[in-house]
Amino acid sequence: MLHDFVQTTSGDMETTISGYKLVDYTEQYKSIMQFNKNKKVHIHQWYPFVEGYSKEFIESILSEIDYKPELVLEPFSGSGTTPLEMQNMGIKCVSFEVSPFMHLLSTVKMRNDYKLKEYNQYLNIIINDLKEYKSNIRDLMPIPFGRTVVQNEKLKKWNFNDDIMDGILDIKLAISIIDKKDNKYANLFRIALASILLEASNLFRNGKCLSYRKNWQINNTLSRSDIHLIFISKLEGLFLEDIKLIEENFKNDLSSNYELCFFGDVRSEIDRIPDDSVDLIITSPPYLNSRDYTDIYMLELKVLDLVKNYNELIYLRKKTLRSHVQIKYENIEALDIPLLKDCLNKLLEKEELFWNSDILNMIKAYFIDLNQLFSSFKTKMKKNKFIYFNVANSAYFGVEILVDEIVCHIAEKQGFEVIEIRKARNLKTSSQQSKQIESLRESVIVMKS
Ligand SMILES: C[S@@+](CC[C@H](N)C(=O)[O-])C[C@H]1O[C@@H](n2cnc3c(N)ncnc32)[C@H](O)[C@@H]1O
Repeated sequence: MLHDFVQTTSGDMETTISGYKLVDYTEQYKSIMQFNKNKKVHIHQWYPFVEGYSKEFIESILSEIDYKPELVLEPFSGSGTTPLEMQNMGIKCVSFEVSPFMHLLSTVKMRNDYKLKEYNQYLNIIINDLKEYKSNIRDLMPIPFGRTVVQNEKLKKWNFNDDIMDGILDIKLAISIIDKKDNKYANLFRIALASILLEASNLFRNGKCLSYRKNWQINNTLSRSDIHLIFISKLEGLFLEDIKLIEENFKNDLSSNYELCFFGDVRSEIDRIPDDSVDLIITSPPYLNSRDYTDIYMLELKVLDLVKNYNELIYLRKKTLRSHVQIKYENIEALDIPLLKDCLNKLLEKEELFWNSDILNMIKAYFIDLNQLFSSFKTKMKKNKFIYFNVANSAYFGVEILVDEIVCHIAEKQGFEVIEIRKARNLKTSSQQSKQIESLRESVIVMKS
């Protein structure tokens, strides 16, 4: 939906939607709402994360609020950008993450006690171990869980070619030696392995899911030793440089947010935080776009043995915010918000087009989850403190779900003051939607407790 912004005396371009101030921040936010900007930045570069914002976004918030927070909350840690940047600024940040892979990634990035000498010792053990050819590697290290992980006679497509999988298993075996000596470095090496998995596989991240690359059968010619080389060059290159810097910057008094990053479902785990303690929240929950993080990060979850069977996968999906249709729920009662009900009614008119009967339930459940979260925020936050909430609107069958406006209603009902909605970017819609809705607003909602 296009809006006519009007220039105010302060120079801001703004308008009003659902009674809330909508300010055009597309200039200020155009590059910093994407992780891309941090692809070559110290530590952030260890693993490229598509669904995150940049450290510059965090810095911009800290430079505009008129107090230094004592305790920040990030309910959806993802790649750990918020708690890591807070740590770099000497600010405590408690964070939560339900995915064992994202949790591992966040905590590995937040550790500030790596030492170059130890790192090099362990790296040499890995390099030496990989020199030795192991013909029986699959007896020493089992193939990860999953029906399509490697080739078999029943499959037309598989995630990893056999030689590549053997290279990965060699690396896993080498890491398991380090694990017995020092789990901290083993986890660091696991993240380095995770960072090469997509490139090694026959897949690419295709929005909501993983898809097979064009001509992957011919084009993926990587060998077992290529995998070793790619892995070692990561460890000898950017990881090593960053470990040097971490050691140089280490100060005994500088606390790490590592121990404040909790693994689990924030909807229940948030009660670990004392009431009236948080004085800033910066976050970006999963968007209402039916994207299931357990699907998109399946390679990492499986290869790192973070999901070892189907039951564990279902269990994990049930713990995620309800922004996807992977889990079925009984009929859900929508929150009593007229704007939400209006969107749901418009969608109901398109019911015959639904590719999944759980879409309505997903939308209702998403806002119920956010409502629960805002209720907890109210208890955990001190008075007159800020929330920066990054969301995006979504569209199903030509009906736009005005997520940011609905979130404002939820927050207000829970006792927050909505300062403004900042339009951050226009996100392109999928090809099915684009005829009716060209783009969707991604925004940052600024609220006060
Ligand atoms: C959009 S990403 C967060 C991005 C993060 N701000 C960053 O810049 O890296 C959302 C994250 O929420 C996590 N998540 C989903 N449901 C959750 C839940 N119930 N509790 C905690 N984390 C959850 C997902 O695994 C995902 O990593």
